[in-house]
Amino acid sequence: MRSVTAENITETFLGYFGKDTDPRVKEIMASLAHHLHGFVKDTKLTHDEWRESLELLKWVGEITTPERNEFVLLSDVLGVSSLVDMINSNPAATSSSVLGPFHVSDAPEMALGADFKRHYDGEVILVEGYIKDTEGNFIPGATVDIWQTAPNGLYSSQDEEQDINSFHGVFTADENGYYCFTTIRPVSYTVPSDGPVGKILDATGRHPWRPSHLHYIVSAEGYRSLVTEVFPNDDPYLDQDTVFGVREDLVIGYKPQAAGTFPKEGFELSGKVDDAFSKIDFDAILIKK
Ligand SMILES: [Fe+2]
Repeated sequence: MRSVTAENITETFLGYFGKDTDPRVKEIMASLAHHLHGFVKDTKLTHDEWRESLELLKWVGEITTPERNEFVLLSDVLGVSSLVDMINSNPAATSSSVLGPFHVSDAPEMALGADFKRHYDGEVILVEGYIKDTEGNFIPGATVDIWQTAPNGLYSSQDEEQDINSFHGVFTADENGYYCFTTIRPVSYTVPSDGPVGKILDATGRHPWRPSHLHYIVSAEGYRSLVTEVFPNDDPYLDQDTVFGVREDLVIGYKPQAAGTFPKEGFELSGKVDDAFSKIDFDAILIKK
């Protein structure tokens, strides 16, 4: 095409595809071109705005490290991560939610009933539940990978005070699909706002807060892995999560338990907790592949 115009550029772009282009690649690129070209026309994007957008994307790349993925964060605050989760969710399974940028691979294996909080102080939370399929059958031996913030609101990769595996643990559910551990209450926190994502939040009058949560990746042979989060039902940021991660079935009450009622056995902290504590019951439902 020699005389490319604002009217025919999208069709021209599509006409440049080779005939052996993978059909899915073609579908995605065609839709991207339609929306992207439409966006430029709708907003009557100026040269300055276009240059500033490219500078911002360049900054996203420059600030990204193995410990901080600004691309993930950008996708999160734009609602893209959550939208991908939602359109790929099966209503019969537990809702998925954002992975976020702070998961540590190869976290240590922990025995069921282990204590997650190590030397940190705070209200003890006993977490337990079952991993099940959509028919309610328990899935034995599922892997339950969990991580959370320390009381200072930071994940291990953000905090020089913590080693990299702090507040990360991998549990194997027993033959009945049961898992359990203890921790302390995770806290609400702000996503990193000292980079390009922070600039977007500032420019649109948004805050960087997320409601407190426990992150989960639950996986089992023959099932689709579930990446999700569990939120307490009293967090002030539940209705304004800056990364749009909250789903109704992921909001769980932290049930207060009286002093002196901590289980006498089965937990690393058995015999060591006399005070009141709280309990989370969270079952995860997986979809067969
Ligand atoms: Fe998180």
